Amino acid sequence: MSNKIVAGNWKMNKGFTEAEELIEELISLFEKEEVESEVIICPPFPYLEIATDYAQDGFFKVGAQNISPFPCGAYTGEVSAGMLRSMEVDYCIIGHSERRKYFNEDDKMLTAKVNQALENKLIPIFCVGEALPEREAGKHFEVVRRMVRHGLFHLDTSEFAKVIIAYEPVWAIGTGVNATPQQAAEMHAYIRTLIAERYGDDIAAQTKILYGGSLNAKNAADIFSQPGVDGGLVGGASLVAEEFFEICKKA
Ligand code: PGA
Repeated sequence: MSNKIVAGNWKMNKGFTEAEELIEELISLFEKEEVESEVIICPPFPYLEIATDYAQDGFFKVGAQNISPFPCGAYTGEVSAGMLRSMEVDYCIIGHSERRKYFNEDDKMLTAKVNQALENKLIPIFCVGEALPEREAGKHFEVVRRMVRHGLFHLDTSEFAKVIIAYEPVWAIGTGVNATPQQAAEMHAYIRTLIAERYGDDIAAQTKILYGGSLNAKNAADIFSQPGVDGGLVGGASLVAEEFFEICKKA
C-alpha cells in the first residue's frame, strides 16, 4: 500500500444506469492493474446501495457526500449517519464548500454532522478551504484555521484521530485551476501545525490530509509527491473511469 487515499466525489451527477456502468468500468480497470492507494467512491445517496454491493469485490470503499446533523426522527428528506452505516458505508464528506455555500452549512451544523458521523462509526472527510478573495487578501491561513478549529477541535484525541481532512481551495474546485504543488504543501503543513498544537505531534503526523480542486491525471503525480499530501479528493475527474483510475495509480 502507498498509504495514500483517493476519494471520488461524484457530486449530483449520473443516472442510475450510468452510475452502475461507471462502477463496472472502474472495477474492470482495477482488475487489470493493481492500485496501491486506498480508493473511496462517493456517489449520490440513491446509488450507495449498488456501490456497497460492488465494494464487496474489495477494490474500493464507499462514502456518502453528506449526512444529517440529526440522529433520526421527523426530519423530512434527511439521511442519517446511522442509516448509512447500516448499509456499510464507511466514509462521509462533511463541510464541502458547495454545502457551506448553497445550503448555508455553518460551523455549528458541521460540528453536529461530524459528531453524528463518529458516533455511527463513519469516517468524516472534513473539507476546508479559502475562497479566492480570501487568498488574494492573504487571509487563507486564517480562514482555514477557523474552519479546522471550529469544525473539529471539540473532539477528543481518540475521536479526532479517525478524521480525514481535505484541503480544497474554493477557487480550485471545478475551475481547472489547481493549487500549485507548493501551495498545497504549504497549507497541508500549516494544518498539521494546528493539529500538533491541539493534539500533539504524533496525531499531527498520522492525520491524513487530502488535496482537492481540479485534480486530474496530469497534475496528480506532482501534487501527491509533495510532503504532507496524503492523497486527493477528486470531483469532475472521478466521473470518467480511466481518468479516475489514472489518478488512483499516481497516489
Ligand atoms: P473538482 O472538485 O475535482 O471537480 O475540482 C473537487 C471537489 O469538489 O471535491
